[in-house]
Amino acid sequence: MQLKDEIDFIELLKNPIRLFGLTYIYFLTVAGFLGAYYLWNMNDVSKNGTAPFIIKDSTQFIQDIPMQRGALIPPVNVVEVGTTSKALVDKGANLYKANCASCHGDNGMGDGPSGASMAVKPRNFHSAEGWKNGRKISNMYKTLQEGIVLNGMQSFNYLPAEDRFAIIHFVRTFAADYPLDSLSELMDLEKVYNLSKGSQLPPQIPVRLAMMKIEQESLGDSVYVAGVNKSITGSKQETLGGMLAGRLCVNSTKIAAALNSVNNKNVDEFIRIVSIDPVTLGFKSEVTRLSREEWNALFSYLSQISKKI
Ligand code: HEC
Repeated sequence: MQLKDEIDFIELLKNPIRLFGLTYIYFLTVAGFLGAYYLWNMNDVSKNGTAPFIIKDSTQFIQDIPMQRGALIPPVNVVEVGTTSKALVDKGANLYKANCASCHGDNGMGDGPSGASMAVKPRNFHSAEGWKNGRKISNMYKTLQEGIVLNGMQSFNYLPAEDRFAIIHFVRTFAADYPLDSLSELMDLEKVYNLSKGSQLPPQIPVRLAMMKIEQESLGDSVYVAGVNKSITGSKQETLGGMLAGRLCVNSTKIAAALNSVNNKNVDEFIRIVSIDPVTLGFKSEVTRLSREEWNALFSYLSQISKKI
């Protein structure tokens, strides 16, 4: 029996299409090279074309309260000030120039110098498009009350209500098609803002600024305290007052604070305050047994020191 070769190569060459089955070796090799190429160039292959967007640490965003003038907002009759008049428009024109023109432009085109660099451009009052709160008097009153703070339109809640209405009437002269408010829309303003009662706006400063101020003030205090301290401990005690201070003053820091409140007041005030609780104020309790003459000496000595500082 004649054994046949497992692969008859001569047959195969005659019929090369059967070689097709061997092409997987070729594909395997190519895939291998591509894989290697990928590995060698891994650093470059998957580089981002655009810089990554880094989300800012939200704990860094501290929105402090804004500086605000305190103001007394006098009461108004909303129907009266909600109705335009020449007097209101004239008043509004001046107020507009002072408060709004820097951003909204002298002619209300939204082209004031301060607005040029703002991300959201100040409103052009001639155009009816794209208003956020709206163009009615009541809408604009809300805008002036609350501002659109994130976009740079500040709040004008410190302006008296009448001034705000005056400005609004002036702004509305920039175009002929400003919509009118219904009576009930005006009355809603009354309801929301209590315009007929008036209001008081407390002044406020940013917390950061307040902290700086407190620091500065206490710096002044500590310089003052150090001065009193030095004078009392360094006193030559030549005078009766100096001698008494040296003998009866225990804690000159506290005494400095006490003097601060007594300063410019008379000796009786000093005696009264110190006698109530001498120890807390930094004196020995013996101080209460001083004669009037000794009190006088002590007081004049201590207040001299505090005046020198
Ligand atoms: C510091 C610049 C600046 C000042 C000053 C300023 N504004 Fe604006 N105002 C803006 C910006 C910016 C916008 C646009 C805000 C937006 O569209 O989100 C705006 C928008 C408005 C709007 C449109 C609100 C809406 O419904 O879209 C009114 C009304 C307005 N301001 C009135 C005033 C008046 C009145 C004053 C003066 C009392 C004034 N602004 C002062 C910057 C300012």
